[in-house]
Amino acid sequence: MIKEVKFGIVGTGAIFALSHANAIKKISNASILSIFDVNRDRALECSQKWQIPKVAKNLDELINDKNINAIVIATPNDTHKEIAIKAANAGKHIFCEKPISVNLQDAYQMIESCNENKVNLQIGFNQRYWSQVQIVKELLEINFIGKVHSFRSVYSEKWDAYPATTQYRYNLEQSGGATMVDLAVHRIDLIRYLLGEYKNIVAELKHNEIPHKVDDNVYILANMQSGSTGVISSDRFSPAIGDGTDLYGSEGAIHFVTETINPFHNVPLAVYTEKKLNEIPPILKNNFYPSAWWKEFEGGWITLQPERKNPYEKELMSFCNNIIEGKSVEVNGEDGLKALEIIIASYISKKEKKWVDLPLDKNTKIEIPKY
Ligand SMILES: NC(=O)c1ccc[n+]([C@@H]2O[C@H](COP(=O)([O-])OP(=O)(O)OC[C@H]3O[C@@H](n4cnc5c(N)ncnc54)[C@H](O)[C@@H]3O)[C@@H](O)[C@H]2O)c1
Repeated sequence: MIKEVKFGIVGTGAIFALSHANAIKKISNASILSIFDVNRDRALECSQKWQIPKVAKNLDELINDKNINAIVIATPNDTHKEIAIKAANAGKHIFCEKPISVNLQDAYQMIESCNENKVNLQIGFNQRYWSQVQIVKELLEINFIGKVHSFRSVYSEKWDAYPATTQYRYNLEQSGGATMVDLAVHRIDLIRYLLGEYKNIVAELKHNEIPHKVDDNVYILANMQSGSTGVISSDRFSPAIGDGTDLYGSEGAIHFVTETINPFHNVPLAVYTEKKLNEIPPILKNNFYPSAWWKEFEGGWITLQPERKNPYEKELMSFCNNIIEGKSVEVNGEDGLKALEIIIASYISKKEKKWVDLPLDKNTKIEIPKY
C-alpha cells in the first residue's frame, strides 16, 4: 500500500518548471525526491529552486532509488520508451508526457511493459482536466445537444511563445513532429475523449513560417465512428494564441476554449439550447440570466465561467490519488497510442494524398513528411 507518492522526475526542462514542479508541491500526499536531467546544471538549478533533496547522476540511479514509487517522464519524445520501460521494470508508476512516443511499436511496448509489471501509465493530456471540458463531457453523456454531427477545433500558438529549454522539437527524429505533436495532439485526444473513436482521416500539413523546416500549419479532417465529421487545425506561426472547439448537434451547440479566450469569446464555455428550463441540467440552470427576472429560460445561449483550476494540478492529483487508492488511471497508455495513431495516419494521408482508415495496423511505421 502506497500512502505517499514519492516522485522521481526525468527531464527538468520547460514543462517541468511550468507544470510538474509547482503542481506536485500542491498535492498533500506527494513530493519530489529526486530529479535527473542530461543537463546536470539545469537539474541542480531546479533542485535549489524547488528544494528537491536529490539530483541523480544518471537515469539508473534515479529509477532504482528504492524511496521513489513514481516517475514523471518530461524529456524529448524519442526517449520516452526507454525511460518508461526501465521505470516499469523497476516497479514504478509512470506519468509520461504526451506524445506517448514517436512510433506505434514503442507505444505498444510501453503499454505491455506497464501491464506486465502492474504499474500505472498515465499520459499528460492535461486539457481533459479543464473544468469547462468536464462540463462538456457531462452534457454529451446526457445527450444534451442531440446527435453531434459536426465539430471544429482550433489551436494556434506561435513557436517562440513557449519557453522551451532545448530545440529538440525541431529535430523531427526526436520529436516525431512539431505542431502535430505539440498542439494538434491535444485536440486529437480531446475530440476522441468527447466524441469517441476515429473512423478515418485525411490531412494536410504545411510549413509556412517557423525558421526550421517542420509542420507549422496542419489540418485533419476526420470522420468519427459515431458519425460526426469535423476538423482539427493547428498552427505555430500566429502571434495571437488562438483556441476554440465548437460542437454542433441536432438539438444544440457547445462552444468552449481551454487555455485562453479572445475578443470573440465572452466566456470559456457557451451552450445553445432550445430546451425548456425543466429539461436542462443544474449546471446550466444555475448559469442562465433571463431577459427579465419574472421570465423563465426561453431558449438560446447559456454562458458559463467555470472555476479556473490548473489542469496540470488536477491531472497529477488524479494520478497520485489513483496510486494511493490502488486504482487504474483516467488517461492511460491506450489513449496515448490512439492519439499517436492519428498523427501517423496524418503523415500517411499527406504522403499518399488519401483518406486513411483507423485503427492502424500495429506494425505501421512512422514516416515523417519533409517540408
Ligand atoms: N502536456 C503538455 O501540455 C506539454 C507541454 C509541453 C511539453 N510537453 C511534453 O513534455 C516533454 C518535454 O518537453 P519540454 O517542453 O519540457 O522540453 P524542453 O526542451 O524544455 O526540456 C527537455 C528537457 O529534457 C532534458 N533531456 C533530454 N534528453 C534527456 C534524457 N535522455 N534524459 C534526461 N533528460 C533529458 C533536456 O536537457 C531538457 O532539460 C515532451 O514530451 C513534450 O511533448 C507536454
